[in-house]
Amino acid sequence: MAPSQMKGILIEKFLKSHHELQICSVPPPLIGTNTLLIRITHTSPTHVDLLYLAGKHQNNRRHMRPPFILGTDFAGTVVSSPAFSPFKPGDNVFGVAQGAFAEYVSVDVGKGYGSVRRVPRGWTNAEACAVGVSGAVSYGALAAAAQLQKGETVLVLGAGGGLGVIACQIALAMGAHVIGVVGDKEKAAVLRRMGVEDVVGYNLPGWEDKVKALMAEKGKEGVDVVYDSVGKVESSLRCLRYGGRVVIVGFAARNGVMEKVGMNRILLKGAGVVGYRFGEHGRRHPEETEAIWDEFMKMAENGNIKAVVYEERYKGVQDIPRALEDLHVRKVIGRAVVTISEDSSAQTVNSSKL
Ligand SMILES: NC(=O)c1ccc[n+]([C@@H]2O[C@H](COP(=O)([O-])OP(=O)(O)OC[C@H]3O[C@@H](n4cnc5c(N)ncnc54)[C@H](OP(=O)(O)O)[C@@H]3O)[C@@H](O)[C@H]2O)c1
Repeated sequence: MAPSQMKGILIEKFLKSHHELQICSVPPPLIGTNTLLIRITHTSPTHVDLLYLAGKHQNNRRHMRPPFILGTDFAGTVVSSPAFSPFKPGDNVFGVAQGAFAEYVSVDVGKGYGSVRRVPRGWTNAEACAVGVSGAVSYGALAAAAQLQKGETVLVLGAGGGLGVIACQIALAMGAHVIGVVGDKEKAAVLRRMGVEDVVGYNLPGWEDKVKALMAEKGKEGVDVVYDSVGKVESSLRCLRYGGRVVIVGFAARNGVMEKVGMNRILLKGAGVVGYRFGEHGRRHPEETEAIWDEFMKMAENGNIKAVVYEERYKGVQDIPRALEDLHVRKVIGRAVVTISEDSSAQTVNSSKL
């Protein structure tokens, strides 16, 4: 049973920035006939949370209006579940649900798994939390939307971010050649340890020429696919081979101001440009999104995916604003993980820290 009150970060109206966040005492989430109640052990702030609190995300127009509890990615332990659910009390789970910046969250899972999965064997809850929904998002973007094939080269922008580190590992597991693009040396070092041989920094002008030079060494005119979670479509097109594909996943670098791209550039490259929106795809095609989760989970359980947990330690709901600040100033590599409560998997050796 959840207590009558819990700590959480409640958004009563949109804020100017995360510096205005308040920790509140709020009632625990309501439980319906199709919901799991989960005691949160860990939560990971993401770029989406920074947008949600300020009302800058596309979902803020319809699905995500105040009041709501902030936070999306979590790991935790099931407290109660419907009798027909594949999850049982005591199961360690992770996934995505609105309201993860709190001590408890409830998730509507229908009669299946919804957006929650069991923590893979040998993983801690902290590691599962760091992967959160990023695995399913990046798998859907690369495999379903961009149709990445074995032997192709994919350029991953924002490769040291929460989505990016997982996208690189998924692409490697699919047998692709990966070029990671990052903003600093620390992120580049983590990517190299992950097995990404080619890493390019995008802080210097003309970085796109470095990508093209890497491809020229292989006798190719450009990359086959670009995974863009940063918002650099013009640069993506410059790096692309004729007939390549760009999958647009997000706009981390745009601060709400969208890029205007000349249509002639798309024509000249014969490029395919496709957007991938995981949440909306799941609302419209739940069975496809379920299959995407399943395929990603196979990769995780086969040992192809290692969580990248940012080294700084955060404890309690009260530390979430500090983790958001570190994310905001781009210190975080992979995901910052905030410990909310005791984790029954914590004895498992953290073998996947890079
Ligand atoms: N399509 C979907 O379904 C979906 C799902 C989840 C998230 N998203 C979106 O995907 C994007 C990335 O999410 P994420 O969780 O991976 O974010 P993240 O963990 O913050 O990573 C974003 C990366 O972008 C790079 N970046 C470049 N310029 C930046 C700037 N001005 N501000 C912040 N970061 C900047 C940073 O790397 P460097 O410091 O190395 O440049 C950072 O590592 C966001 O726009 C998010 O809304 C989309």
